[in-house]
Amino acid sequence: MVSNKMLSALNNQMNAEMFSSYLYLSMAAHFENVILPGFAHWMKVQSKEEWGHAMKIFEYVNQHGARVTLEAIDKPPATFKKPLDVMKQVLEHEQKVSAMINSLYELAQKKKDYPTQVMLQWFITEQVEEEKTASDIIETLKLISDAPSAMIMLDRQLASRES
Ligand code: FEO
Repeated sequence: MVSNKMLSALNNQMNAEMFSSYLYLSMAAHFENVILPGFAHWMKVQSKEEWGHAMKIFEYVNQHGARVTLEAIDKPPATFKKPLDVMKQVLEHEQKVSAMINSLYELAQKKKDYPTQVMLQWFITEQVEEEKTASDIIETLKLISDAPSAMIMLDRQLASRES
């Protein structure tokens, strides 16, 4: 039995995932604007993935007979700095999301809510992957520094991310 407290916490997480989607879409708009289409593509794919995370929770809450409540999504920032700063922002954001997922897992453990623990394990694995991907891009951007040709190559590489 999934408790009301757990369902309400999941509803909040769904909203946080929607905000992530919105944040990355705003970053995509920024990269389109500064003519880095590969980075923009990467962010659009990331935004779609985040929406998928929100929908995973949406379906789970529904499955347990609870009513999903859609809340307002916070406005994401509209101005960003260099690609390295943006990717650092991504990593920081993902670390925050990981902490939120871990708190949800702790609540599920406290409530002896095994189905929710199983569902959240998928998110825990996903967060490890997302933090690693952002860290890897950050390391590449540090190596590139401000070399334009290397930045163009990275942009092309990011353009090949599958959606
Ligand atoms: Fe759905 Fe990137 O956390």
